[in-house]
Amino acid sequence: MIILGILEYNTKLVRPFRPGFHTCTTCVSASSCVVYGCSTTTSTDRARPARDVIEVIKGSRTIRAFTSGPIPEEDINMLLEAAMWAPSHRNEQPWEFARVGPESRAKLLKMLQLKIDELLNSGKVPEPARPGLLSLKDDFGGAAQLIAVIARPGADILGTQQNFAATAGAAMNMQLAAWEKGIGSVWLTVGSVPPAKPILQAKSGHTVVALPALGYPKETPPAPPREDFRERVTELP
Ligand SMILES: Cc1cc2nc3c(=O)[nH]c(=O)nc-3n(C[C@H](O)[C@H](O)[C@H](O)COP(=O)(O)O)c2cc1C
Repeated sequence: MIILGILEYNTKLVRPFRPGFHTCTTCVSASSCVVYGCSTTTSTDRARPARDVIEVIKGSRTIRAFTSGPIPEEDINMLLEAAMWAPSHRNEQPWEFARVGPESRAKLLKMLQLKIDELLNSGKVPEPARPGLLSLKDDFGGAAQLIAVIARPGADILGTQQNFAATAGAAMNMQLAAWEKGIGSVWLTVGSVPPAKPILQAKSGHTVVALPALGYPKETPPAPPREDFRERVTELP
């Protein structure tokens, strides 16, 4: 009986480890779910074929042009939930999120437009990068939602660094979970410049780590190449 119980438990643990196969919005919070024995998958989840994590990681592109249309609230919640499951020192979960509304969005857009104009006029932007910037200049490329991912300060410098690192992981979780759902995003540096801090209502000592703009991709650009990892590896004695 005990062995059967363990087997059943293991089956539940192993089954959902296929991204896309099991992506209900409640399973990770476990409130209505016995470990992963989740009962509430959406119809699109059921129709979606399984995708390997490496496929999602390598296939996900920064999207700078979006089709119009909102992201369903349950998907936004799923992204936030995915972010919460990032690892952190002592599982402190040292991050906060700010969902950007129209007023704040307009202020951030003005900042972004000034920066993009400056970049475009500098002559330093390579030709292939120009369409993406021009698209972003037009209301963030039509992104449906901007979400700031903000790190709390730690008790000391190391703690603050650890919190920043963990919060970057949370932002990445969010972007990868989004991609798996067919939602694209662009990580916007403009959210991390000092004038953005009051707009995003980040508290004193907090750091805006990421400002992903999210929406449904109008097009998926080709993958910018990556260097060979072997060039970055040092074998230590
Ligand atoms: C910390 C960080 C800041 C970024 N800032 C911007 C940005 O301000 N604007 C932008 O268009 N893309 C931004 N990106 C996206 C990168 O340009 C993009 O990830 C990179 O070119 C690789 O392309 P890929 O994500 O499609 O593989 C940022 C990415 C990161 C991780």
